[in-house]
Amino acid sequence: MDQIRIIGGTPLHGVVEVGGAKNAALPILAASLLGGGECIIDHVPQVQDLVTMGKLLALLGVEVQTEGGRVMLEASNVQSIEAPYDLVKTMRASILALGPLLTRLGEAKVSLPGGCAIGTRPVTLHLKGLTMMGAEIHVEHGYIHAKASRLKGARIDLDFPTVTGTENLIMAACLADGTTSLHHVAREPEIMDLCAFLTKRGAKIVGAGTDTITIEGVRELHGASHRVMPDRVEAGTFVMAGAITGGDVTVKGCVTDHLGTMFTKIQEMGVELTEEDGEGVRVRRSTPLKAVEVKTLPYPGFPTDLQAQMMALMAVAEGTSVMTETIFEGRFLHVPELHRMGALIDVDGPHAVVKGVPRLAGAPVMASDLRASAGLVLAGLAAEGETIVSRVYHLDRGYERLEEKLQALGAQVQRVREVI
Ligand code: UD1
Repeated sequence: MDQIRIIGGTPLHGVVEVGGAKNAALPILAASLLGGGECIIDHVPQVQDLVTMGKLLALLGVEVQTEGGRVMLEASNVQSIEAPYDLVKTMRASILALGPLLTRLGEAKVSLPGGCAIGTRPVTLHLKGLTMMGAEIHVEHGYIHAKASRLKGARIDLDFPTVTGTENLIMAACLADGTTSLHHVAREPEIMDLCAFLTKRGAKIVGAGTDTITIEGVRELHGASHRVMPDRVEAGTFVMAGAITGGDVTVKGCVTDHLGTMFTKIQEMGVELTEEDGEGVRVRRSTPLKAVEVKTLPYPGFPTDLQAQMMALMAVAEGTSVMTETIFEGRFLHVPELHRMGALIDVDGPHAVVKGVPRLAGAPVMASDLRASAGLVLAGLAAEGETIVSRVYHLDRGYERLEEKLQALGAQVQRVREVI
């Protein structure tokens, strides 16, 4: 298994380019299932989750061809209705096949994703919405089995603005009979990107990016080309890498509007941010980081996917910071690993109280999930001495060539094979 070896303490300098958003590319690729006609998707990040999505789509009968960051999909001959456990267990986003398969083929069988390291993560809201659209759903033998000769438009009010739940219901509604109005939905930019792609395919969608989305069902969708939006979580991670090392880093190719809440918090910590034409940001820090209070919230609030990275900064900030995680109940698995590096963090339910220390100490640590891994890498960049992050396969699910991009900024970081 691969590990990331970091010698900390070098301020990062230079320019880094952000790739396509994993969380936008996943639903966009899944949306190929909605009809025939060639779909050409560019700026798809080459990360493990997208490889898994490609495998799932191929298994369902989609012709999938990948050339670098371009994925070409043709879904005229989709016949299989089953997303098996072996794939779903490695990537929860496989649930995104449910809505498209059901609405296109009248039936879908998707393995129940089950829990994962960061929480129980149910999909009840996806199922409730589809049921309101007329689907008959049984959960048996670990599978969600859904049937509907044709879904019917409905008014659906979500109890919580679930991201993939909103995406599943939008895709299902595209081919439903009549109009579906979705209320209290997620407003994440990735949902707007999915809707932009669906609209290019001939879907009729109004309200993406607000908390009410209306979809008028159409008979079929056609092919289309689309370029995936930049990854705001990757961009945020590089901004924090510049900030934690006290460097001077320009993060290019991101949409700064998507990072507003996070920028505010980083600035509160004493980091200088200069926006560059809405397409990039320069990060500089010459004074010690200051403590800050942060609460994760659905977009446009502070993203839970940047919580672990932010905690690395809090660990070396002057004073006492508080991080409150409101989205996932179990998302503090990086805390015991940060303790190993000398961080002073007390967890009390959804709150983590972080007493900043002047310097972390490099140590062997273990990644528990995708974003926690990124938090540990940031901590390693700021720590004294050597940090070895193991279980890097979590990182590879969502970050493209992270160590190469950090090396180009001057970081002493390498991918190495674990010696057992
Ligand atoms: C998506 C993102 C993930 C991000 C998360 C929150 C993708 C592929 N993944 O995950 O990176 O961390 O949004 O921004 O886009 N919930 C229910 N019932 C449901 C569905 C969700 O109770 O039916 C709860 C979850 O347990 C969790 C909260 O809602 O506490 C948010 O989950 P959700 O927005 O669904 O996250 P994902 O779509 O899985």
